[in-house]
Amino acid sequence: MSDRTPAPKKLYIKTYGCQMNVYDSERMAEALGGKGYVETKSPEDADMILLNTCHIREKAAEKVYSELGRMKALKDEKPDLKFGVTGCVAQAEGEEIMRRQPMVDLVVGPQSYHRLPAMDEAVQAGKKALDTDFPDDDKFETLTKRSKAKRGPTAFLTVQEGCDKFCAFCVVPYTRGAEVSRPADRIIREANELVESGVREITLLGQNVNAYHGHDGGLAGLIWDLDKVDGLERIRFTTSHPNDMDDALIDAHGTCSKLMPYLHLPVQAGSDRILKAMNRKHTAESYIRLIERIRGARPDLLLSGDFIVGFPGETDQDFEDTMSLICEVHYGQAYSFKYSTRPGTPAAEKPQLPEDVMNERLQRLQSLLREQQVETQESMVGREVSVLFEKAGREAGQMIGKSEYLHAVFAEAPMDVIGQVRKVRITRSESNSLGGILTDAP
Ligand code: 5AD
Ligand code: SF4
Repeated sequence: MSDRTPAPKKLYIKTYGCQMNVYDSERMAEALGGKGYVETKSPEDADMILLNTCHIREKAAEKVYSELGRMKALKDEKPDLKFGVTGCVAQAEGEEIMRRQPMVDLVVGPQSYHRLPAMDEAVQAGKKALDTDFPDDDKFETLTKRSKAKRGPTAFLTVQEGCDKFCAFCVVPYTRGAEVSRPADRIIREANELVESGVREITLLGQNVNAYHGHDGGLAGLIWDLDKVDGLERIRFTTSHPNDMDDALIDAHGTCSKLMPYLHLPVQAGSDRILKAMNRKHTAESYIRLIERIRGARPDLLLSGDFIVGFPGETDQDFEDTMSLICEVHYGQAYSFKYSTRPGTPAAEKPQLPEDVMNERLQRLQSLLREQQVETQESMVGREVSVLFEKAGREAGQMIGKSEYLHAVFAEAPMDVIGQVRKVRITRSESNSLGGILTDAP
């Protein structure tokens, strides 16, 4: 670097919440890269700090305000430091953020972050910048190409955003807006760019990814096009709604060898009364039949789900119905939550269940799900799986990757397995991972 080259500005992004936020943070860093920013892992070094927030959990906004409060010391040390709040809390709170925390220079919702470079200019000129529109211009087109920098073997790729389902408990339709699908050709182009940077596995992201309609053949059509991308070895997608699992997508699970045998298909509850109150528009029975069909196409599929306990009006019997559904379906892994209100959602007006009832139910549900997870992991012992190695493990000589079923697998292996899919025989199951030995050593 010559003496006259200005030192690059440093950007620190703290990412909360879902995988789409991880993807958005990468895209924001790339967009600001065009303005001379390079990423730093330490907030103390930063010239700009962005909090890329999530609104799905309880008291999300309050948590952001406390984090900003804690970070104020950095601003005191370095008055030129700029602060931005992005993501779903930015969308939900808007201007209120700058009112409550005046050190914040920039607030931008998830649909407007392609405007970050222009907003940065305003901020550098000492102005405040706020954008929580749902603009008509195509965010992804404006963001154009992915960075050519070498990447790890796995990546996320957003193909669809927003949700039109309006489940009664959920803020997503309000923070991410209406369902929008990206055109398939742009996605294929981005997938090729990712593969050129070293990516071997792509997880297609969308709040309602299986409602994707940017391809005549829906999500299955897109998956089949991605199947043809040379160098791409694995395809996954998340998160799906049961009502959008069409025949072609079910079929792809049995016939597309790059599509991994793992499916996250939330049901939320097992009682028809509660499913109706949640506005899920399916029944427990229809969900169970759907799982049977998917397993008909791919018998070894590992199923994952989301559950909410204590939705307003949930009786003991409703809860038992959820437990029965879990017993009948059997999940390889799952996420579960106590219901909590999100202001502005239809369920927020309804009376809450007592905390101790919710706690007791959540504990029972989680121990059942945990049993099923352990059983699934233990059933892998003795089997040979394919592992895409991602990085070095904690112990010397050990490498870690993911099996086709998304289990974390560690094995002794040389460094150069990173980025390769290798056969591993599973020899033990630990609390959240599997250990094994390479069986295809050259
Ligand atoms: N309370 C509890 N859990 C919720 N989720 C979404 N909204 C709420 C809420 N208000 C859960 C759902 C969803 C997952 C991402 O978060 O299970 O599938
Ligand atoms: Fe929220 Fe998913 Fe329901 Fe959409 S389908 S409203 S994102 S829970």
